[in-house]
Amino acid sequence: MPNKITRQQFLEHSSKVMVAGMLAPFISPAGTLFQDKKVKVGLIGCGSVSGMYLPHLFKSPHVELVSVCDIVPERAKAAATRYNIPNYYTHIDQQLAGAPFNLLVNLTDMQEHGRLNKIALLKKRHVWSEKPLANTYAEGKALLDLSKQQGVRLWGAPAVVNSPQFAYMSKMIQEGKIGKVSAAHAHYGHLGPTWSAFFYEKGGGSLPDLGVYNIATLTGLLGPAKSVMGMTSIVTSERTVDNKGKIIVEAEDNAMILMDHGNGVLSHVQCGFNYFDPYGHAGEGQDKPTLSIWGTHGNLQLIGYDWAPFAVDVATHEHEMTRREATNTGTYVWEQGASVISESLVSGNEPLIAAEHALHVLEIIEATRTSQQSGKRISIKSTFNYPIVS
Ligand SMILES: NC(=O)c1ccc[n+]([C@@H]2O[C@H](COP(=O)([O-])OP(=O)(O)OC[C@H]3O[C@@H](n4cnc5c(N)ncnc54)[C@H](O)[C@@H]3O)[C@@H](O)[C@H]2O)c1
Repeated sequence: MPNKITRQQFLEHSSKVMVAGMLAPFISPAGTLFQDKKVKVGLIGCGSVSGMYLPHLFKSPHVELVSVCDIVPERAKAAATRYNIPNYYTHIDQQLAGAPFNLLVNLTDMQEHGRLNKIALLKKRHVWSEKPLANTYAEGKALLDLSKQQGVRLWGAPAVVNSPQFAYMSKMIQEGKIGKVSAAHAHYGHLGPTWSAFFYEKGGGSLPDLGVYNIATLTGLLGPAKSVMGMTSIVTSERTVDNKGKIIVEAEDNAMILMDHGNGVLSHVQCGFNYFDPYGHAGEGQDKPTLSIWGTHGNLQLIGYDWAPFAVDVATHEHEMTRREATNTGTYVWEQGASVISESLVSGNEPLIAAEHALHVLEIIEATRTSQQSGKRISIKSTFNYPIVS
C-alpha cells in the first residue's frame, strides 16, 4: 500500500519546493490541474511496450490520454486511432506545444530517455520514464534536481515494489521472520528482443533492460547497496533485428553483479540476452523461483519473475516444510507504473515507486560496468528511503 500522507503534507511539501525558487508544482501549463480528478497524459514512443501501457492507461479513471508521439508517424497515428486519443505528433516539441497535458510518459529507446525527459521537465511536465531514467547516473541526478527546480515530479520504471509479493517479502524481512538476513540471489534472462537495435547499441544492454528489475527488487528488500562488484561480457557479437538488419552488439548482453548492502548482507544478480528460456520475452508460464533470500531463521523464494510474481515459497525454523504464501496478485501488473503515479498525483498519496530508488539502480548499473573495466569494487553514493514496505 502507498505510504499515506495527508493532502496538507503534500501541499506543504509542494510549497517548500516553491520556496526553493520554483513555480507552483501540480499546476499544469494549461491552468488548474486535476479538477476532474484526471491527469492529462501525453505518451511518447508508440512501440512494443506502449501496447501494454496504453490499455492500462486507457482504463485508468485518473487518466485522460491527450496525445501520443512517435518519430515513426504511422505508429503515432495507429496508437491514436486505436485508443481514441485526439492528438498525435511526430516530434516532442510539437507534442509539448500542442494539446496541453500534465504528465509525459516516456516509452522511447533507452538512449533517448535522458534527453526527452529533460525537454519535458524544462516545460514543467511531470515525467514517468521507462527504464533507465537517463544514460548515466550524473544525467539522472541532474534530471531529479531539475524536476525539483521546476516544481514537477519525476518517476522511473520498474514498478516491482508495488507487487503484493514484494510487500509480503519485505514485511517478513522487516519483522525478523527469517532471522538475520545474509544472502540473496536473483536472475532474469531470455534470448533478447528481436525488434529494435537500441537494446544492443551503446547505452543499451541487458543491465538496464533486464537486470534493472532484480536490482530494484533486491535493493528494495535488503536496502541500498553500499558497494558493487561486477563482470559483464558480450556473448553474441552480431545480431539481426527488425529495424536495422544485421548489427554489431556494443552493449553487454551478459552480466553478473555482487552487491554489499551493509550489515553483512550480500546479494547477487545475473541477467543476460543469451539465456535459453522456454517462457520467452513475455514470461508466460514462468512458475519457478527467480529471486531467493536466505536468513538465519528462514528463506523466501519469489515464484515467477519479480516483475510478474504470483507467490512466495517460505520455509522457517518454526515451519520447516516449504509452504506457498502471498498467492494473491491483487491489481498489480508490471505495466501499471504510469497509471499508479497518475493516481498519486490526483490523490496526493505518495507512491511506493521513487525517483531516488530508480537513480540508485542506475548508479549500480553504471558501477557494474566500471567494475568490469577496472577490476575494482565500486562504492555507491546514492540512497533512497528504506524500508519501502514495513
Ligand atoms: N517491449 C517490452 O516488453 C518492454 C517491457 C518493459 C520495458 N520496456 C522498455 O520500454 C522502452 C521501449 O521499449 P520498446 O520495446 O517499446 O521499444 P520499441 O523500439 O518497440 O519502441 C520505441 C519507440 O520509440 C520511438 N522513438 C524513439 N525515439 C523517439 C523520439 N525521439 N521521439 C519519439 N519517438 C521515439 C520509436 O520509433 C519506437 O516506436 C525501453 O526502455 C524498454 O527497456 C520494454
